[in-house]
Amino acid sequence: MISLVFLFFIVFTFSKCKKTTSSDSTPNTTKYFPLVKTIIQNNCLSCHSTSGNWSGRPTAFDMDSSIAKQYTSIKASISDPVTPMNKRMPQTGALSTNDINTILNWYNAGGKTSD
Ligand code: HEC
Repeated sequence: MISLVFLFFIVFTFSKCKKTTSSDSTPNTTKYFPLVKTIIQNNCLSCHSTSGNWSGRPTAFDMDSSIAKQYTSIKASISDPVTPMNKRMPQTGALSTNDINTILNWYNAGGKTSD
């Protein structure tokens, strides 16, 4: 468990470095949001959807704007250390390292629908 947290920390630190180095010469044209949206559709909407069958779950990610609005808590739920206030998502098991990196890259780029 400790090593997992450590791994996420490394991944997070690393993705920050990448951002600063790539921004000085050529602008970064990678769009992360479409990838993030697919990850969320595949892994989160079964519970976090206004039309799903998960009652009593106020957080919904069916709209682009609702994903972007909650970028901080999405990032926290998939990669920050688990606390009583921050459950690991998806509940069924963490995302793949690739998917986590994609969401972290999007978060670091600004977490908007245009990023
Ligand atoms: C199997 C159902 C399920 C799936 C799949 C799931 N969640 Fe959750 N999620 C929950 C439940 C239930 C809670 C409330 C947890 C608690 O407070 O104990 C929650 C809480 C959260 C919260 C905290 C805000 C809130 O609504 O309480 C965030 C952010 C979140 N989930 C994001 C995600 C993301 C991002 C994914 C996909 C990567 C995901 N979840 C997948 C069921 C799910």
